[in-house]
Amino acid sequence: MPLRAALVLHGPNLNLLGTREPAVYGRATLADVDALIRDHARDLGIKVECRQSNTEGQLVDWLQGAAREGFGGIVMNPGAFTHYSIALRDAVAAIGLPVIEVHLSNIHGREEFRRQSVIAPVARGQVAGFGPLSYLLGLDALAVIGDGVSTRAPRRRVRRR
Ligand code: DQA
Repeated sequence: MPLRAALVLHGPNLNLLGTREPAVYGRATLADVDALIRDHARDLGIKVECRQSNTEGQLVDWLQGAAREGFGGIVMNPGAFTHYSIALRDAVAAIGLPVIEVHLSNIHGREEFRRQSVIAPVARGQVAGFGPLSYLLGLDALAVIGDGVSTRAPRRRVRRR
């Protein structure tokens, strides 16, 4: 079904965007990034809500509650949790909503420990390396795939004798 509302989650230290390692993450603040996300969502005709937390449990709670809150998909930058949080991975695998993993930097071209994502195998897909545009591309992907609920009639099973 077409996506009506998306949740955007920013993980730890992303509240420091603008001043945090600008050579890696750029000069845009989190408020700037959220404004770009909101504008883009408006153009796509999708409602969006952006949230940030430095706490793993809070991100798990938001993932678990997303469907109940009416969101059809999630764009998430898990920050450093990307590389080791089995709790976030399990939440993504459990919820049944499409989750697009996004990163400002190209994690695959950075330190060895950043090249592995424990989230990627259970996410619907990953966008990395495009700065704030990564979030917009993540929203585009959600808009194209919809909320994961198929509108097609279920296929009839062929009875074998
Ligand atoms: C990040 C990449 C992570 O390795 C890092 O810990 C972050 C930001 C990114 O957006 O490029 O906090 O997720």
